[in-house]
Amino acid sequence: MEYRTVGRTGIQVSNLCLGTMSFGANADEETSKKMYRRSREAGINFFDTADVYALGRSEEILGDCIAHERDNIVLATKVFWPTNADVNARGLSRRHIMQGIEGSLKRLKTDYIDFYFVHDFDPRTPIEETLRALDDLQRQGKILYPAVSNWAAWQIAKALGISAKEQLARFELIQPMYNLVKRQAEVEILPLAASEQIGVISYSPLGAGLLTGKYGVNKRPKQGRLVDEKRYTDRYLDEMNYVVADRFTTYAAERGIKAATLAVAWAMSNPAITAPIIGARNLEQLEDSLDAADVDMTPEWREEISSHSITPQPATDRGETLLPNWT
Ligand SMILES: NC(=O)c1ccc[n+]([C@@H]2O[C@H](COP(=O)([O-])OP(=O)(O)OC[C@H]3O[C@@H](n4cnc5c(N)ncnc54)[C@H](OP(=O)(O)O)[C@@H]3O)[C@@H](O)[C@H]2O)c1
Repeated sequence: MEYRTVGRTGIQVSNLCLGTMSFGANADEETSKKMYRRSREAGINFFDTADVYALGRSEEILGDCIAHERDNIVLATKVFWPTNADVNARGLSRRHIMQGIEGSLKRLKTDYIDFYFVHDFDPRTPIEETLRALDDLQRQGKILYPAVSNWAAWQIAKALGISAKEQLARFELIQPMYNLVKRQAEVEILPLAASEQIGVISYSPLGAGLLTGKYGVNKRPKQGRLVDEKRYTDRYLDEMNYVVADRFTTYAAERGIKAATLAVAWAMSNPAITAPIIGARNLEQLEDSLDAADVDMTPEWREEISSHSITPQPATDRGETLLPNWT
């Protein structure tokens, strides 16, 4: 396992992060704890969860796992989505953030979070209000760094400007979706992160299972997130995704590598990405993603694999490049 520095923080993390969305959901407590131990054995020191995963069970189980070695673990969790039916138990208001952190610290049985993510954009709350609450949490020692997931690049850039102007803690880590069929992050998020020296942990490297060989144009497994969970079925609905899955599966088979392993290796090989966040419902699935750490992804392979899906359009319609010899 390799270790990388998160942006400009000085924190070293494994270049695979274990996502624990399945803990207490489709992985029971025993299986979740086995996956934790296997990840540690493989050298992973970085774990991602959220207050809402399995209604808080994910944080509770992860909290048990890390209890004996908390200070050797880099921990990320999130706030935003409703934690109960109350109208204020959601979003990025100071009120919900202050309540959210207390709940997460309790379930995780720790007194600090390394990277505290805002899980999505809250159009009702001014960004200043959110950033000030996160800055207070940093000063109180309850979080080490604010972090951001699922915001558009312009929203992140706006927040960075506010942080600089108001001298508030800035986002030091971004968590976008990124896989062979979801490449939007390449257009603005990843260049922004590289330019501002912000870490990136990308989620869904397997397209939630799409890129594992079990899906294709005329192929669906009996069980799996893209068939069982409407939100995910809808997210990957476009038929082209299944065409790409077929092409990619064939490409991986021709090279004698499991599709899941190669898909994670592809995400890992993007130089702007600190670590992809891997996810699994059991040890067998986890092994395939862990194997990505040993794949020698050459620039040629990366280019060939990328050519299986559509490269997203640039952010402006002005297509001409700079003048020759312009540096
Ligand atoms: N910030 C956010 O909004 C956000 C959103 C999503 C995830 N995340 C984070 O990112 C982590 C990973 O995301 P993800 O779960 O979407 O990642 P993913 O790697 O794209 O998908 C993982 C899923 O693919 C299937 N799978 C995994 N390995 C497999 C294998 N070898 N063979 C066949 N199927 C396999 C399993 O689902 P099935 O068995 O059901 O097919 C598994 O749960 C999460 O745990 C969470 O921490 C964050």
